[in-house]
Amino acid sequence: TVMEQLLGVRSKEKQLCKLLGIDHCLIVAGDATELPKVLTDMGKLVNETLDVILPHGENIIAVMGGTTMAQVANSLTPKLAEKRHLIFVPARGGLGEAVDIQANAVCARMAVHTGGQHRVLYIPEHVSEQTYKPLLAEPAVKEVLQLVDKSSAVVHSIGEAIPMAKRRDMSTATITMLQQKQAVGEAFGYFFNQAGEVVYKIPRIGLQLRDLERIPSVIAVAGGANKAAAIKAYAQLAPQQTWLITDEGAANLILKGA
Ligand code: F6P
Repeated sequence: TVMEQLLGVRSKEKQLCKLLGIDHCLIVAGDATELPKVLTDMGKLVNETLDVILPHGENIIAVMGGTTMAQVANSLTPKLAEKRHLIFVPARGGLGEAVDIQANAVCARMAVHTGGQHRVLYIPEHVSEQTYKPLLAEPAVKEVLQLVDKSSAVVHSIGEAIPMAKRRDMSTATITMLQQKQAVGEAFGYFFNQAGEVVYKIPRIGLQLRDLERIPSVIAVAGGANKAAAIKAYAQLAPQQTWLITDEGAANLILKGA
């Protein structure tokens, strides 16, 4: 029956939280790698979750890029901004992503879908540290970084290490190094191994992993069987208050101990 199914999912969510050591886990049916609709369902759940956990009034929401986040943006609704003034800001920029899935683009789309505001972080992709460091002195950059600092929520995804490194055109030497260090996942520009140890970090400004501890609401959205190992590894770095929004494709594998 529907009731039994629902109870089954709730018990799986509890088990997943326990195994991953985080406060909240929500699982949607299906596998995002096989059915695009699953990603839409995860997006809707992000919308509902934000509506429950964000306080009324002003909320600065720091967001990351990626295809999952781009889809989440499409699932946000004006209801979220009914009693809130929402400002979407890129949590980090310059990670080397294609224009349409950069955090700037995701923020703009979230603002359109909710009727909120957004800011852009002008950090060029694919430049050396020496080139972007002076940008920190720019008032426009400083203003956005200050907003990120005051954010009440962060919404991000988690990716597989090597596919992410390749998608961002990282050098062959860096990719080889990541393989040698057995990197399995990536989030916020940090690459980590199965034990949750950071093995490489893209040197960029904006939100850092340690900043997450003091952000009231952290939502991690990642699904699909192929992301299971990355999610499991990241959970060891994730702050306790994290809400993981995932699908059965990933959750079943993690619960099986794969
Ligand atoms: O590059 C931004 C980012 O959020 C990464 O931190 C993450 O690993 C990746 O995108 C996820 O991308 P996708 O949603 O396309 O799998």
